[in-house]
Amino acid sequence: MAEINPHYQKLKMSYLFQEIEKRSESARLKNPDLLNFGIGDVTLPLAKPIVKAMCAAISELGETNTHRGYGPGGGYSFLREKIAQHDFSDQISPDEIFISNSAKSDSANIQELFHPNNIVALADPTYPVYIDSTVLAGRSKEVSENGTYEGVTYLPCTEENNFTPPLPSGAVDVIYLCSPNNPTGVALTKNALEKWVDYALKNKAIILFDAAYEAFITSNAPHSIYEIENANKVAIEFRSFSKKAGFTSLGCAYTVVPKDLHIPLHSLWKRRVSTKFNGVPYPIQRGAEATYSESGKEVLKCQIVQYQKQTKQLRDGLQKLGYTLFGGIDAPYIWCKAPSKMKSWEFFDYLLEHAGIICTPGSGFGPSGEGFVRFSAFASENTITQALKRLEALCALH
Ligand SMILES: Cc1ncc(COP(=O)(O)O)c(C=O)c1O
Repeated sequence: MAEINPHYQKLKMSYLFQEIEKRSESARLKNPDLLNFGIGDVTLPLAKPIVKAMCAAISELGETNTHRGYGPGGGYSFLREKIAQHDFSDQISPDEIFISNSAKSDSANIQELFHPNNIVALADPTYPVYIDSTVLAGRSKEVSENGTYEGVTYLPCTEENNFTPPLPSGAVDVIYLCSPNNPTGVALTKNALEKWVDYALKNKAIILFDAAYEAFITSNAPHSIYEIENANKVAIEFRSFSKKAGFTSLGCAYTVVPKDLHIPLHSLWKRRVSTKFNGVPYPIQRGAEATYSESGKEVLKCQIVQYQKQTKQLRDGLQKLGYTLFGGIDAPYIWCKAPSKMKSWEFFDYLLEHAGIICTPGSGFGPSGEGFVRFSAFASENTITQALKRLEALCALH
């Protein structure tokens, strides 16, 4: 008799974005001009050098002499070599880099490599993929009343600890760290990361480090966990071209699995990739390669600067209106405290109803997100200007 995987039944329905959509739809009936700061998707077009490289690659596939079939599952060496050189100053070897179609998928799929009894720790609030994949991997018990899953170690990130996940009191085996963090927009300092690497070395744990937003860092926070001594013994790193190069419609990312890890995850991940993945399409890998060309780097730098400018515009504007804010320095996300002790959803509804602004309620990312909302600066300058005007008018009213 076929039966469904019982772990799927434990999973809470992902009601956050559905609920946002439902409430936004109903608000749109009264006010069709809603301004969306909820989405975390890029708004600038694909850079021309990337488009050119992809078109050339597609043409190659259409010619007898240059046609290609399946590529290597872990990615072409032309891309892995560029990544090693440009992103890791050759401190990481190309064969420790696995090209994939998504950092989201990799950060979830990596759980297959660990023993079923391993205990997972994650930041609270967290990128929802980490907790959902932990539940699906059978590493949690049932969901409790406050929405957390028993058996998972939550690391509360609060105003008091500057949204830095505290070390767990007990031993954990696998630790998700995201820096700069989605949703808080806060990056971990070198000092904080050193403590985590030290913890992992002492406890023989593995850190799953998600650096999807590293390109947006403006402070001196590390861009990679491998900037920390001995991190290659205890950390896997995920990176993505999605946000830094506008690849959300294409899908290209990579995962670094060092050969020096204290358990043989490199060979296991290689095995997994060869069993379950046919590799990222050749034209997309050529497009990713173009992000490292001189012209590619130039355009992408301008795009990142544009997103950083927008984040600052939104942050400065909100701050001027008296909101208490965090993040937004090293990531295009601003973590805003709801005024007057409002709950996340209350503040969401207030902004939606009175200003036609859509944000994301912080409580949807975990219990420590209660009382906050996330603003994404992946919008246009014009949208930000309009939103700030509306909020100013709202402040004058109340
Ligand atoms: C923390 C984090 N990691 C990974 C991703 C997704 O990366 P990809 O588009 O490569 O799947 C996102 C996208 O929202 C993210 O916020």
